[in-house]
Amino acid sequence: VKVLATIAELRAHVARFRDEPGGLVALVPTMGALHEGHLRLIDHARAAAELVVLSIFVNPLQFGPGEDLQRYPRPLDEDTRRGGAGGVDLFFLSAAPELYPQGQPRVRIDAGPMATVLCGATRPGHFAGVLTVVAKLCHIAQPDLAVFGRKDYQQAILVRRMVDDLDFPVRIDLAPTVRDPDGLALSSRNAYLSVSERERALSLSRGLTAAAGAFRSGVTDPSALCAIVLRELLAARVEPDYVELVDPDELGPVDAARGGTVLAVAGYVRSTRLIDNIILG
Ligand code: PAF
Repeated sequence: VKVLATIAELRAHVARFRDEPGGLVALVPTMGALHEGHLRLIDHARAAAELVVLSIFVNPLQFGPGEDLQRYPRPLDEDTRRGGAGGVDLFFLSAAPELYPQGQPRVRIDAGPMATVLCGATRPGHFAGVLTVVAKLCHIAQPDLAVFGRKDYQQAILVRRMVDDLDFPVRIDLAPTVRDPDGLALSSRNAYLSVSERERALSLSRGLTAAAGAFRSGVTDPSALCAIVLRELLAARVEPDYVELVDPDELGPVDAARGGTVLAVAGYVRSTRLIDNIILG
């Protein structure tokens, strides 16, 4: 397992690999604090490619004022140990001065209208920051495929849209959300939760599961399905950011739920913002 910190080293390493022995290159972009969900992304990459590159970079561009940039967990030694054991060949652990040598880049990816709904409505500029760093990582590592988690559904769809609209020669694969046995979707931000807050956070997955059950028994009205989730959040004193039923490709509202429609939720447990979603049917 190699740990590289500069763009030049990563480019050279991938170029050498492509010459000899050759094969597909997969990129798993992360901000570190690796958990089982990341390990499943690595598994997916490992099954699809001969060289698995995992980047760890807490990207300042995607954090808004007052968000948790400083506080975001950075257990780098533990991450390289877990990731290495999980099948990563190459870690790219760059720091902000390497990726943004002039400070914040003046040119960024315009994430477009799909970045203004759901999480984008409360986190303006967030997806421009995500897409800018993902574009840079794709240009640096030049992977054949990159793997993203379905838990960050809007992010994954926007990345897909970016590579399609801007003709990046990379395939975007989505890996399923990984949950604790009680249903909580794994997230690096779960580390912020106390035991009682974690209990309250379960309301997100509980609400989604209940709404999915209602859909299976014939409820298709968006407000009725969203109300089921909302009820769970409020009962657990989780402050809702949004509960929305959206089209899986366009992320716009739908008139009625059908198989494939995405039910997405975001809420605050004290100051911790959590998101989750379920694909109906
Ligand atoms: O999902 C994340 O961890 C980040 O948003 C990503 C894709 C690594 C970009 O910084």
